[in-house]
This record gives sequence, C-alpha cells and structure tokens, in this order.
Amino acid sequence: MDKIVIKGGHPLFGTVKISGSKNSSLPIITSTLLTDNVLSLHNVPNLSDIRTLHKILASLGVKVSQKSLHTWEYQADTINSFTAAYDLVKTMRASFLVLGPLLTRFGECKVALPGGCAIGVRPVNFHLEALSLMGADIEIKDGYVYASTKSKRLKGAEITFSRVSVGATENTLMAATLAEGKTIIHNAAMEPEIDDLANCLVSMGADITGIGSNCLTINGVDSLHGATHSIIPDRIESITYAIAAAITRGRIDIIDTRVEHITSVIEVLKAMGVDIKEITGGFSCSGEGNNIKGIDIVTSPYPGFPTDAQAQIMALMLTAKGASNINETIFENRFMHVPEMQRMNGDIILTDAFSVKVMGSSELHGAPVMASDLRASAGLILAALAAKGESIIDRVYHLDRGYEDIETKLSSCGADIYRYKDTPKE
Ligand code: UD1
Repeated sequence: MDKIVIKGGHPLFGTVKISGSKNSSLPIITSTLLTDNVLSLHNVPNLSDIRTLHKILASLGVKVSQKSLHTWEYQADTINSFTAAYDLVKTMRASFLVLGPLLTRFGECKVALPGGCAIGVRPVNFHLEALSLMGADIEIKDGYVYASTKSKRLKGAEITFSRVSVGATENTLMAATLAEGKTIIHNAAMEPEIDDLANCLVSMGADITGIGSNCLTINGVDSLHGATHSIIPDRIESITYAIAAAITRGRIDIIDTRVEHITSVIEVLKAMGVDIKEITGGFSCSGEGNNIKGIDIVTSPYPGFPTDAQAQIMALMLTAKGASNINETIFENRFMHVPEMQRMNGDIILTDAFSVKVMGSSELHGAPVMASDLRASAGLILAALAAKGESIIDRVYHLDRGYEDIETKLSSCGADIYRYKDTPKE
C-alpha cells in the first residue's frame, strides 16, 4: 500500500487548478445506461473511483473509450448483462447508481447491496422505496437486489424522502427520466452534483423542472439520446486546498472552481479569520497573519456545511485560537480521523458519536497515521502540512479515490510531500 510522507510546518503559496467533480462524474457516467447513443464527457477527473465505475460499466457491456486525459466517451448500445457484481460494488458504494438506469431502460437488473463502510451503516432503503413506488418489484436475496418491472416501464410516482439523500435522489431522478408519466421528488437533495446530473439528463432529452430546488418534477420520455457535457469543478477539492492555505498560514489561489458552490464553507472560513477574495475563475485564500480562531459548525445537506469537509475543517480548528465544536448530523461514524489527529498531538474530545470538541492551539507534531476513508485522509494530509516534523500517512488508496494529483498540486505550492510506493500502480 502506498504511503504519503509529509514534512510539515511550512506556509504554502501558489495556485491550484481544481479537477472535475468526482461526485458529479459518478452518476453522470452511470446515466449513459439510459441511452444507446454516445455520451461524451469532459472534465472527468483521473481518479480510482472513476476507474472502478468504468470496470462496472464495461462488465455490463458499455463501450468506454478515453479521448484525452479528462475526456471520455460511453456507449451503452450492446448491454449484455444486467448484473453489477459484489466484487466491484463493494469497493465503491456509488456503483449502486446503476440500479435506477438499468431498471428503467431494461426492466430488470441485479445489483449487489453495497453494505456498510467506514463512515457508517449507509442503507439503501430510500432508493428501493422510491423505485417500488414507481412500480418496481424488488427482492433482496443472497446480498443482491433483484429489481424488475412487470409492465415494460416504470410508472411516474410522487415520492417524498423522509430525509435528504444524494444517492437516492440521483437513482430516482435517472429512473424517472424514462418512466411512464410524471414523477415528483419532494425533499430532493440540492447538492450542485444533483443539478449537474439533471442538466446532463436534460441535454440527453429528459424533461426535468425544478432543477436547483428540493422538488424535482420529471415527465418521463420514451427515449434519451446522446449528449456532450462538461463536469462541474469538485467543490470538496476546492475546500481542501483552501484549508491547506489557511492551516499552513500561507496563500493559495484556487482556480477553475465555482465559489457559489461552497458559500457555506467560505462563510465559516471567513468567520474563523481566513482571508478570502474572489479572483478570476475562483478565489484566493490566505491564513497569513495567524489570526485563525475557533468556531462551531453543524454538518447538513446542501446548502449547509458539507459532511465531506468535516475532517478538513477539524484539522484547521486544531490550529485555531479557542475551542470549536463540530456536530456531525449526516453520518454516525465519521470521526475515524480523531484518534489519528490525537496521535499528532491534536487536542480533541469525542463527546458522543455525533459531536466533538476541538480545543484549538494544538502544537501539531508529525506522526505515523492511518487513513480510514477518503475525507479523513484529506484531514490527515492537512494536519500533517501544519505539523512540525515528518508524518507518514498510510492507506492513501482512500485519498486516490477522490484527489487527482494531490502530491503534484501541493508540492507546486511548496509542500514537502512525496509518495512512498509500496506496490505497483494499477
Ligand atoms: C453522497 C456522497 C458522499 C457524501 C454524502 C452526503 C457521492 C458519490 N457520495 O453519498 O460523498 O458524504 O452524499 O453528502 O455523491 N440514507 C438512508 N437510506 C438511504 C440512503 C441514505 O438512511 O437509502 C442515509 C445515509 O445513511 C446518511 C444520509 O442518509 O446518513 C445521507 O446519505 P446520502 O446523501 O444518501 O449519501 P450518499 O449518496 O451515499
């Protein structure tokens, strides 16, 4: 397993270009299953999660071809399997997003239950309940979801999610595009990645209104066609580099990003004393002057503070003056990075499964630490950039799922970072 070695304690200065969004790319790539024409996508990040999805699509018979580093073409005109196997689905929960498109276009599919993961139980009941309301017969057997429709097509339905779910909104939205009649999704997730998916579906011929709101109305159409679409910038990557500037008390210009997608985080960073200015194509973020102070945050669905930025802001809070509190409301086990940050001399009190108190003014020291999930890895990288001495971050395959070229991007800003390669790259 690769490790990342960081000698921290230096301010970072430079410019970072943000890659395409992982969480947009995954559902949008999956939407190729809705048409037999070519879907051409630009700005797809070069990440292991994308390669995993490509393997799943190829196993179904989708033609996947790379046109340049970030441009891919997909064509699902020769689907010869309706089964997403456990071996592939277990490595990435977002693979479950093949369920809605396969079912709505072909009337049957078998998709492995993704199971739990490091950050929580993560059930899929909302996905299944919504598809059942649309007329799907669903059976769970031997770790697989068997879904089929008696009539040829799913039927439009009125669906109200009891809590906001990004994945369930995406699966339902994709399924509804080809269903017979109207589907209304109440309490839909409003993440920018949902808008990106909906906009791509509209360019493929879908009839969707309410994009950008928490109520999506979809009038099903008989078929969708090919399209060309460019993936939005990765907002969590933007936040991570903004915090890299703040935590090292340096300044980084973050470009090729969309500031309007990270308003809640920018507000928190400004309230902590981080200096943020809009620049062409993005923003400039600075922690110079060492005036960072503690704050209390609560994670919540968009437009609230994203759970995917919780580990990173925790790292910054460790270096702030005064205490901070974090209340994590999305996942019940998302503090796996706490003991690792404590190993780096971070002063954090775990209050319960959903809340921590970060004492601040911690003098972080480098240490060997272990990444437990994607965003926890990012939090540890940030803490290591601020810590005096050497940190060795193990299990960085988690990081490779969601951060393109992180060593190159950070070292271009002056970070002392290198990857210790333990095994040949895939
Ligand atoms: C997506 C993101 C992930 C992010 C999360 C929350 C992708 C690929 N992943 O994950 O990075 O952390 O949104 O912003 O886009 N839930 C249920 N039943 C369900 C579905 C969800 O109880 O059927 C619960 C989950 O356990 C969780 C909450 O709802 O507590 C929100 O989960 P959800 O929004 O579905 O997360 P994902 O789509 O898996």
